Amino acid sequence: NKPARFRKNLLSWNETSNKRSMPWKGVKDPYKIWLSEIILQQTRVEQGRKYYESFLEAFPAIGDLAKAGDESVFKLWEGLGYYNRCKNLLKTAREIYFEKGGIFPDAYEDIIQLKGIGPYTAAAMLSFAFNKPYAVVDGNVFRVLARIYGIDTPIDSTEGKKYFTDLAHQNLDKKLPGVYNQAIMDFGATVCKPAKPECNNCIMNSFCAAYLNGLVNHLPVKDNI
Ligand code: ADE
Repeated sequence: NKPARFRKNLLSWNETSNKRSMPWKGVKDPYKIWLSEIILQQTRVEQGRKYYESFLEAFPAIGDLAKAGDESVFKLWEGLGYYNRCKNLLKTAREIYFEKGGIFPDAYEDIIQLKGIGPYTAAAMLSFAFNKPYAVVDGNVFRVLARIYGIDTPIDSTEGKKYFTDLAHQNLDKKLPGVYNQAIMDFGATVCKPAKPECNNCIMNSFCAAYLNGLVNHLPVKDNI
């Protein structure tokens, strides 16, 4: 049973060998999780870190952000680009604070309605903030699962998205979804990297289809670009 084996190994790697430290890790406050995930949508962790810190310093709670003037928020966002993210950030903060009593929704159907939140961010919110069993599917997850299972369906095809989303859900630890989701992203970022992955020291190499078949540098497959 490969999903169970993968899950067990991932959590054990996470406990013994995951050295990745990030300010939003283990945080439960939905506002902070949401803020970090919006920043990280199109920004690398190393760059996003300082923006996350300065936003929280300026706006410690969602009400502070909701009540801020547009200009002060745009000013803090400077350098991150993709300004629609910032517009959506403000719109959603105001909606939650002024229309929903400051309470972040905790149901998928409600979260996905919010501006700037797609399936990835909804799953991140639900698992990190509310410990609900939703699997995140980002670039790290595509890569790790494509290699472990030896899947060459293009990750940017409609079929691929569905296939990997289903597989991600089968692999998810339903009791520790937040820990599991953070662990698979950290594993993808530090071990099962896009280039020069650390296969020789990898806890999964005895059952990784890509490793066993010499396909590590050929997976995942992308249709376009
Ligand atoms: N990218 C988006 N969300 C992330 C997270 N929680 N940890 C690491 N990288 C991420």
